[in-house]
Amino acid sequence: MRLLIDDADIGEIKRLYDLYPVDGVTTNPSILAKANRKPFDVLKEIREFIGREADLHVQAIAKDAEGMVRDAQAIVNAFGEATFVKVPCIPEGFKAMRLLKEKGIRTTGTAIYTPMQAYLAAKSGASYAAPYINRIDDMGYDGIHVTKEIQDIFEVNHFETMVLAASFKNSQQVLELCKYGVGGATVAPAVMDKFVNNVAITAAVDVFVKDFEHLAGEGVTMAELL
Ligand code: E4P
Repeated sequence: MRLLIDDADIGEIKRLYDLYPVDGVTTNPSILAKANRKPFDVLKEIREFIGREADLHVQAIAKDAEGMVRDAQAIVNAFGEATFVKVPCIPEGFKAMRLLKEKGIRTTGTAIYTPMQAYLAAKSGASYAAPYINRIDDMGYDGIHVTKEIQDIFEVNHFETMVLAASFKNSQQVLELCKYGVGGATVAPAVMDKFVNNVAITAAVDVFVKDFEHLAGEGVTMAELL
């Protein structure tokens, strides 16, 4: 499962890249608004940091297919071919996905709340389909179940499109989909930090260090001793 950071805060992106095996970054207009900087500046800085080959997902803003295609071309020109253009899974979006597929521009079908949106995104040639787990839960449905249905649809129909699960509120949701074999998950920094946020883990490591310090002295590690 690919693991992406769902954020545009360059400080957070650098911190998480330093710690974890991350494959890229996803953004959306609301995430960019939260960063509160010029979108081009933020996205350029992210691209420069993560490198030319890493996945970067940037959303088209226009509501009609032709406008989405223009947005997509501008996005790829600005941030490189490894950039996936997020296209909302609305009727005009499916049209845009087909046009972009013909132009060789890769897309991520986004704002997915139902399996049929994902099915149409796959049929329209999207590389990824992004179901919104937490937002589906908030509507009174089961976001994990919907995402598993989408994964099943892709498998039985032999679509190449991969699930890029999004909108997580806890690490258990990510784990559930990791076990189910989805292609990717994009996770906000606060949720990613919870992957290993467990007092038992930190307590176990603290005991190991203390036991070694009894032997070798406070603050001494293998590097000083061997
Ligand atoms: C992906 O990038 C989605 O836009 C994002 O995960 C949505 O997350 P939210 O529901 O927390 O806003």
